[in-house]
Amino acid sequence: MALLIRQSDILLPDGDLLRGDLLVIDGKIAAIAPHIDLPQDQPCTVISGTGLILMPGVIDPQVHFREPGLEYKEDLMTASHACARGGVTSFLEMPNTRPLTTNQAALDDKLQRAASKCVVNYGFFIGASAQGNIPELQTATPACGIKVFMGSMHGDLLIDQATILEEIFAKVPRLVAVHAEDQARLNQRRQQFLPADGSPIDVAMHSQIQDNQAALLATELAVTLANKYQHRLHILHLSTKEEVAYLRLHKQPWITAEVTPQHLLLDTSAYARIGTKAQMNPPLRSPEDCAALWQGLHDGILDFIATDHAPHTLEEKAQPYPKSPSGMPGVETSLAAMLTAAAQGKCTLAQVSRWMSGNVARAYKIPNKGELRIGWDADLILVDYENYRPVLGTEVLSKCGWNSFEGESFTGWTQVTIVGGTVAYANGKVNPEVRGKALTFDA
Ligand code: DOR
Repeated sequence: MALLIRQSDILLPDGDLLRGDLLVIDGKIAAIAPHIDLPQDQPCTVISGTGLILMPGVIDPQVHFREPGLEYKEDLMTASHACARGGVTSFLEMPNTRPLTTNQAALDDKLQRAASKCVVNYGFFIGASAQGNIPELQTATPACGIKVFMGSMHGDLLIDQATILEEIFAKVPRLVAVHAEDQARLNQRRQQFLPADGSPIDVAMHSQIQDNQAALLATELAVTLANKYQHRLHILHLSTKEEVAYLRLHKQPWITAEVTPQHLLLDTSAYARIGTKAQMNPPLRSPEDCAALWQGLHDGILDFIATDHAPHTLEEKAQPYPKSPSGMPGVETSLAAMLTAAAQGKCTLAQVSRWMSGNVARAYKIPNKGELRIGWDADLILVDYENYRPVLGTEVLSKCGWNSFEGESFTGWTQVTIVGGTVAYANGKVNPEVRGKALTFDA
């Protein structure tokens, strides 16, 4: 099967735009040129790209899609539809489902579920368990890496002992991705700030309780261990100016770090506007933190962008803090949010693509994805970078039905999403028959 995308502005790997045609054959990019003739030897679908940017699909390297066990919040089908709408053609999903993804059987179960219902490509983390699952961490496959919750998690996924963390670095030679918040400090500050009788307080206190110091302490520990063992470390959703400053001094080639659009674009003033919809872990920070995160991205201290898509129902979010759960959805708006920032001059279109596609593929060693190159996978998006449209809750495809950017106006909305050469989203509609593939990770 062939697909020809005519006369879009094609974002090339060097960041230049080429006005021209892109031909897909058998799911791979076959040609990129100012003009390509229709292939004569096979049927070919033609899509007009006039007025649109053609970019590599977004690879979102941190999402919580809730299946199995928490499907009342989201499931792999609804989440993958939301991905297609947002221009996300591949995702890496986290192990805090029920059961937890801490062994091969749970990983296989997720892969099977995804194969049967995901319209985009999928990969999964294996979770480090407080019970001890080093043999599973060593052998689970295919897994993009090991997820370690150093804080902000209850039960079996909480690794708040430095000795257990060190054992993982010492014994498992694979990428370790950490949620870096120091649980001892979180416990101490909860005790200090939360009323003993359980009565609610202002949700804005969330950023004070889970403060910058809690994030810094955990990042320092993870970086120290990674450097001791020269071990591949990835710091998830980094959020503070202190961590950026620390990484400037201590980051080594085996360390990468990511930031979310919400930590770049929202600050603690969001609590007054959207209440618990602004509550996430790690929390939103000050405008100075946002500025330091932007600078960190520009300087390559932060390598790429993830959404940490973590949907909860509106009913759950309507509970008063601290009963309200942390987390917000992200895959439907991340690209438009970042392209709007680019349109406002905060960065360039090419940088957004590098931060949301190319750098992610490189960091997780996902072959043949993240850039538009001949022979690479045709995971493509056509994006409208000319018109602004509001973020509307009524349009949300995520099961949660809300978005923290509602009311804002974004450009850079995805018009067409192509997964492995097949159109998965166009004209505002998902094609639910399309199936993504399991991602592979080079050694
Ligand atoms: O706010 C968050 N919610 N941060 C996380 O890292 C986990 C997530 C969730 O699963 O709800």
